[in-house]
Amino acid sequence: MTISSDEPADVRRVRRPPARLRALLPELEGARCVADIACDHALLAVEVVRTGVAPRAIAIDIAEGPLAAGRRNVVAAGLSDRIELRRGDGFAALNVDEADVAVVAGVGGRSIAAMLRAVDPRSRGLRRLVLSPHGKKDEVLAALEACRWQPLRSYAVPDRGREYVVLVAVPADPTVVSALSTAPEGG
Ligand SMILES: C[S@@+](CC[C@H](N)C(=O)[O-])C[C@H]1O[C@@H](n2cnc3c(N)ncnc32)[C@H](O)[C@@H]1O
Repeated sequence: MTISSDEPADVRRVRRPPARLRALLPELEGARCVADIACDHALLAVEVVRTGVAPRAIAIDIAEGPLAAGRRNVVAAGLSDRIELRRGDGFAALNVDEADVAVVAGVGGRSIAAMLRAVDPRSRGLRRLVLSPHGKKDEVLAALEACRWQPLRSYAVPDRGREYVVLVAVPADPTVVSALSTAPEGG
């Protein structure tokens, strides 16, 4: 899709994300800002904001090519003021308290586990994780346990003849979250 500056933005020109991603929307409902990590085309972030599931989103990808595709979709949808695109690696790309809910979908379970082991999402102020690993669910569960996140529910979503895992997790001890967010610098 080529977007020229004199073409009016219109969200209807942006294709809907696949069913496996649309199925995640109820888990993101009520977020202040959703971080769509490994966003690629950013179709999920566009859908989140377009449907009012959350007022804002940050779409993050480690590679410039996918981000460029994401940027085209966000501009075409006219949502540049509500969706920020950012290059970065997993949760490390987020600053503290920018987003309260993060989604990571369409990435192998081993990669998601590596993101969790690299940066505890709690340290970024995240309150809920919605993970849809492609394989290696056990590695994601082990990494969640290692950084004290508790799986709330896990289920499968059908899409085009395949089943996609969805895992929703929250901090195992919510008091740790408030202690961390109120701790003095260096404390
Ligand atoms: C197959 S796409 C999935 C896109 C979308 N989330 C979906 O479910 O359709 C995987 C994307 O993850 C990105 N990615 C892989 N590792 C990453 C990391 N550590 N941090 C951020 N993005 C990453 C890749 O660049 C790629 O664009």
